[in-house]
Amino acid sequence: MKRINQVLESEPNHAEITVRGWVRSFRNDRFIALNDGSTIHNLQCVIEPADHDQSILDEINVAAAVAVTGHLTESEGSGQRVELQATKVVILGKADPEDVKLTILSPKRHSLEKLREQAHLRVRTNTFGAVMRVRAALSFAIHKYFQEKGFYQAHTPIITGSDAEGAGEMFRLSTLDPKNPPINEDGSINYKEDFFEKESNLTVSGQLEAETYAMGLGQVYTFGPTFRAENSNTSRHLAEFWMIEPEVAFNDLDANMDLAEDFIKYVVSYALDNCADDIEFLENRLEQEDKQKPQNERSPMPLREKLKFIGKNNFKRVSYTEAIDILKNSKPNKNKKFKYIIEEWGADLQSEHERYLVEKHFECPVILFDYPAKIKAFYMRLNDDKKTVRAMDILFPGIGEIVGGSQREERYDVLKQKMADMHIEEAELWWYLEMRKFGSVVHSGFGLGFERLVMFVTGMGNVRDVIPYPRTPGNAEF
Ligand code: 4AD
Ligand code: MG
Repeated sequence: MKRINQVLESEPNHAEITVRGWVRSFRNDRFIALNDGSTIHNLQCVIEPADHDQSILDEINVAAAVAVTGHLTESEGSGQRVELQATKVVILGKADPEDVKLTILSPKRHSLEKLREQAHLRVRTNTFGAVMRVRAALSFAIHKYFQEKGFYQAHTPIITGSDAEGAGEMFRLSTLDPKNPPINEDGSINYKEDFFEKESNLTVSGQLEAETYAMGLGQVYTFGPTFRAENSNTSRHLAEFWMIEPEVAFNDLDANMDLAEDFIKYVVSYALDNCADDIEFLENRLEQEDKQKPQNERSPMPLREKLKFIGKNNFKRVSYTEAIDILKNSKPNKNKKFKYIIEEWGADLQSEHERYLVEKHFECPVILFDYPAKIKAFYMRLNDDKKTVRAMDILFPGIGEIVGGSQREERYDVLKQKMADMHIEEAELWWYLEMRKFGSVVHSGFGLGFERLVMFVTGMGNVRDVIPYPRTPGNAEF
């Protein structure tokens, strides 16, 4: 049986077909707008009321599931090429209008906040249908890119005993009875009696395990869920998000930046080429939304223009030190408009600084590199100045940080020292350190936050609206 996206592409040759989907609207007892999730567009099904039992007509309600059989003809209405002259309608799943009225399926405008409360239904709205189709296409494009480049996907563990970022933002796992856990003599919990006979947690990143695989397979990537118990209630943070982490043996930081830039350009262009209707819809949605906003908060470019811009222009590569100079001398810094004033070299950059650089100063995506060692993770390669590390972050307009990556510290002694300095327990990461003893080589990788990419490509302003069931502080509904 054809899906509606295929039907809409078919010739109006009067052939008999059957389609199934959900009723989006039913006008004048004649026109059913049917959607089956395959496209943003509905198929118009035209019925002759006299030809159908009243009992059937009464059940063609918004949100009901129906199968419609008829002949595909040229459409007389505007905005559509074909329509279905229905001869038979079968109700597959009823929807009571009184119940529908209480939900976001009722045909009127609902706020995105309201839609979040009914996340189990929101994929049946135009906006979420479009966002989730684009999300799926991007996921496919990511695999396609790496597979075509000879990368192997590595399935790194979700449950680990380590903290890959050393930031302590883990969700702990335990099967011990929380009311009556086994206790050591010093009063602490005895994790030796726990399921894994040690403390364990959900992974914050697959990087460390991916590095070990890059040392055998050469070039690998992960694509999986990661978990962070950071209490950041922002429009860009999730407690459960998906990350893509390529890792490549023999790549230095420059090669790492080249890979990240090429990769992002590829997947963005893929979405533009393969999700044209959805992105056009999302562009119009954004334009409507922008009309409600003050001028300075509106998107500087229409969505498709912005996505094309990414494909065509080089990302600007700037060292952290240069960026600090720019920020120190910037107007918002001098006029104390930043919440965090940049006083000196070594300051951690906040999202307001990142966005200033990208949106006001350079007006294009920016790759910042060579950050102070003190504000970055323990595994990044120390530069000869002993102050900075071979880190890189990619900053995107409207998003801020979309990628974080680095060249890794491949030297055993240097890594050992850095772990000691940053209080990373060797007992936990002995295997990671030991890898530096057996043919250790220069290698690099990065992590792309999948939801931030989906936000960018769909123009959605909140990360909660680009993942089916967002997990955020205080919210694990559904
Ligand atoms: O910069 P992060 O923390 O880097 C890592 O985890 C490295 N291990 C990656 C690597 O080198 N293999 O995270 C990478 C990206 C960020 O740039 C951001 O896009 C996204 O992951 N991210 C989040 N997205 C949504 N919600 C959160 N709480 C996120 N934290 C990070
Ligand atoms: Mg980061």
